[in-house]
Amino acid sequence: MKISGVDVRELKKEYGTPLYIYDAAMLKNNMRLYINNFKSNQFETEVLFASKAFNVKEMVRIVDQEGLSLDCVSVGEFYTALNVGYDPKKVYFHGNNKSPDELRFIIMNNVGTIVVDNLMELVALDMITKELKKNVNIIIRLNVGVSAHTHKFIVTAHVDSKFGVAYKSDDYNTMLEVINKSEYINFLGFHSHIGSQIFDLKAFDAALEKLITYCKDFDKPLVLNIGGGFGVHYTDEDQPIPFDVVSKNLIETCENALAKSNVKIKKLCIEPGRSIVGEAGYTLYTIGFTKKTPNKEYYFIDGGMTDNIRPALYQAKYDCDIIDKENDKKDHTVTIAGKCCESGDLIIEDYKLPEANPGDLLITYTTGAYGYSMSSNYNKALTPAVVFVEDGKSKLVVRRMTLDELIEREE
Ligand SMILES: Cc1ncc(COP(=O)(O)O)c(C=O)c1O
Repeated sequence: MKISGVDVRELKKEYGTPLYIYDAAMLKNNMRLYINNFKSNQFETEVLFASKAFNVKEMVRIVDQEGLSLDCVSVGEFYTALNVGYDPKKVYFHGNNKSPDELRFIIMNNVGTIVVDNLMELVALDMITKELKKNVNIIIRLNVGVSAHTHKFIVTAHVDSKFGVAYKSDDYNTMLEVINKSEYINFLGFHSHIGSQIFDLKAFDAALEKLITYCKDFDKPLVLNIGGGFGVHYTDEDQPIPFDVVSKNLIETCENALAKSNVKIKKLCIEPGRSIVGEAGYTLYTIGFTKKTPNKEYYFIDGGMTDNIRPALYQAKYDCDIIDKENDKKDHTVTIAGKCCESGDLIIEDYKLPEANPGDLLITYTTGAYGYSMSSNYNKALTPAVVFVEDGKSKLVVRRMTLDELIEREE
């Protein structure tokens, strides 16, 4: 099997397994689909990459080259961007519990916009801006109460969500008072993120229409950020909508809702993560032992929940193949299990594959989002390497962790 012209067997030889492989051409293409189609002649538009999905230096460089802005949720993500010379003014900084030190750090490093999550944060931010005598742009994260069809653990905008405030709630009203009195806080607009892996565009339309209604309370045209969450193909259960269609649909909904309500906005933003990197990413493993129990057959791989926690965390489903056996008869129903000391360390359950032998390579698809970024060193597993491939060439972008690096911070 080749990815962007590179044979995965060669990648195994050069970089070992487990290995995260990204098709850089596909990443760029996904970004372009958003950038080229998320455009309006009635308001400005901005596409942000939600870097929590996959934040490494090379990725940020590509985001920069392709002209996207960046959503960061931690000082770590922000620092990575600063380190490669990414313009901090193009960063939207999220988080429901930003510490005073984090707020100081991002303000002193000229963050573009802070997405304020709650009242206490705004009060703290107001004090910090006074102390630093620095102006900051903010948008308020709203909980628009639209629940999108997705797994409940990744729905974030229901009323009791840990994220955001509800429109016209006591906290919301007090936030507007704090903003009005504040010397340094510049209120730009609203943010909403209704969930992840969403296929029904009507959910975004509903959220957007709500945000537009709220704009009526303000004299100036606001910035609206409708978040990310656009679905991708993990298995054939998923039927994603092409990203150019998603983009055009959001613009059209926004233009129609503005016309109906006689409201003007300054800018519309989206912040896709998974849909930019998900399908561009693969994970390559080596199969070790196999085992039959009375009711199951296992293929054991040299990675597992440490490089892909999503199946254990929220029963995420994936497709996979054995390299060079893609077209063989798939007559074994197997469970792909990792090597961690957890019975839940199962990457794919009850999946049809051909017979495997030790040393065979197994590839899982659509692992580009929330794989590397959620990886851990549980059982003191070494973080795998990350390689980008494009036009027949590979480039190592994260070196595999070494045993010495694993313990270097320990006394
Ligand atoms: C605020 C916010 N924006 C954007 C995203 C990106 O979502 P996705 O990767 O599903 O596009 C998330 C994901 O959790 C989020 O919480």
